[in-house]
Amino acid sequence: MSNYDLVIKNGTIITASDKYKADLAIKDGKIVEISSSLDAPNAYDASGKILIPGGVDVHTHLDMPFGGTFSSDDFQTGTKAAAIGGTTSIVDYAVQPQGKTLHETIDIWSEKANGKAVIDYGFHLAVTNLNENTRKELPQIINDGFPSFKVFMVYDGMRLDDRTLLEILQIAKDSHGLVCVHAENYDTINYRVNQLLKDGKTEPLYHAISRPQKCEAEATNRAIKLAEMSDAPIYIVHVSNREAADEIRKSRAEGFPTMGETCTQYLLLNEEYYKEEGFGGAKYVMSPPLRNKKNNALLWESIRSGDIQTIATDHCPFFMKQKELGKDNFTKIPNGAPGIEARMALIHHYGVNEGNISINKFVELTSTNPAKIFGMYPKKGTIAVNSDADIVVFDEDKEITISVDMLHENVDYSTFEGFKVKGYPVATFSRGELIAEDGNYIGKEARGKLIKRKNIEIL
Ligand code: URP
Ligand code: ZN
Ligand code: ZN
Ligand code: ZN
Repeated sequence: MSNYDLVIKNGTIITASDKYKADLAIKDGKIVEISSSLDAPNAYDASGKILIPGGVDVHTHLDMPFGGTFSSDDFQTGTKAAAIGGTTSIVDYAVQPQGKTLHETIDIWSEKANGKAVIDYGFHLAVTNLNENTRKELPQIINDGFPSFKVFMVYDGMRLDDRTLLEILQIAKDSHGLVCVHAENYDTINYRVNQLLKDGKTEPLYHAISRPQKCEAEATNRAIKLAEMSDAPIYIVHVSNREAADEIRKSRAEGFPTMGETCTQYLLLNEEYYKEEGFGGAKYVMSPPLRNKKNNALLWESIRSGDIQTIATDHCPFFMKQKELGKDNFTKIPNGAPGIEARMALIHHYGVNEGNISINKFVELTSTNPAKIFGMYPKKGTIAVNSDADIVVFDEDKEITISVDMLHENVDYSTFEGFKVKGYPVATFSRGELIAEDGNYIGKEARGKLIKRKNIEIL
C-alpha cells in the first residue's frame, strides 16, 4: 500500500532463530509489517533470495593512527566497502590520544565519521590513560551512549598495566559498561623480539614467532581472572586460537560474564601465509598473528559450542607502501589487515556451505549477537517489526572469487585473494534506503548516523 515507503516481496527471511517466507513493509526507516503477502505497486522483488539482517561489525579501525601512519580506509571508503559487502553497522575503536580526555576522543572520532560514514556507527573508547579525569569520565561516557571500552595489554603508548585494567573493569561493572580486551603478554613479546632482532631475524614471519599462542592464552587467562575478581563482564577481542578460546570456556563454565570474539582471518588463514614470497608476508602482520592450520577447525568448534559469540573483522588496512615501514624490521610493520567487505560472504560460504554452522548461527554470529552484546538490539541485528530496516538481500547461488579487483576497500591487496565463495550480497538496505546493489555503492554520501548504544547484554 502507498502507506509504506517500501515493500520487499517474496524473500526468505533468516534471523538467528527463524527461516520463513514473508513480505516486509518499511516506513520511516523501520520495518512496520511482516506478513505472508503485502500488496505494493513498486515492491522490491527478492524472489529466490534470502533476506538477512545487515551485518554488524563490532571491531573496526578506520582512519586510525598506528605505527607512524594511518589505517588506509577512512569512514567514507571503509563504510562504503562494508555496505557493498552486506554490513550496515560498525563499532569502531576510538583510541584516546595521549593527553586527551575521553570526551575529546569522542569529538576527534566524531569528526572522522561525521560527513563521511554511509552506514550507522558507534565507538568503543580505547582507554590509554587512566587519570583522575578519565575515572570520572568513564561512567558519564557509558551513560552517553558509549557503554563499551577497550584496553590494550600491548602496544607502547596504548597499553595499560594489570592494576589499571582491574580498576577499569571495576568502574565498568559499577556503571554497567563492558570492557573489551586485546590480550597478549607484553613482556614476553619484548623478550622474544629482542632475541630475534639480535639474531638478524627481521622478516614478517618473525612477527608470528615473537607472539606465540601461549603469549595470547596467558594474557587472556590473566585478563579474565582480573575480571572474575570483580565479577565484571569482559569481552576478549580477536581470539585467534583454541587455547585462548578455552580460557573463555572455563570462565563461562564457572558462571562468569565472560565473552569472546574471533575474526574471519583466524578461521580461514594460517601462519604459512607469512612465508609468501618477497615482502608479501607483511600483509598478514596483525596481532595476534595467524596460527597453524589445525587451529581453524578448532576455532569453528569453539564457535559451535558457544564459547565464542561473535565474528568481527578487526579491519585495519595498510597499503603495501605503508607495510614497507617494516621492510628491515618486522616490529615496524603497521599491524592490521583489511576484511570489512568480504566478511559476510566468507563466513557464509566457509561457515554455512562447508557445514561448520547453520544459516541461523551465521546471522547470530555476524549480526544478532554483536548487536545484543554492544547495546544495539533490537534496533540493529534482526529482522523484526520496529527494528531498523537494515536488510541484506543475499543470493545464495551467486559465485564470486574474492579479489582486490572486485573489492572496494582502500588498499592494494586482499588477504583473501582467490578465495571462492558461493553466496553474495546483491542489495543492501540501510534504514530502508537501498544503498548498495551488485557491487556498487548507490546511496547518498555521508548518510550514516551515530548509534547511541545502551544496555549491553551478557550472552
Ligand atoms: O593487528 C591488529 N589487530 N591491528 C589493529 C589494532 C588491534 O590490535 O586491534
Ligand atoms: Zn559526556
Ligand atoms: Zn587488538
Ligand atoms: Zn583491533
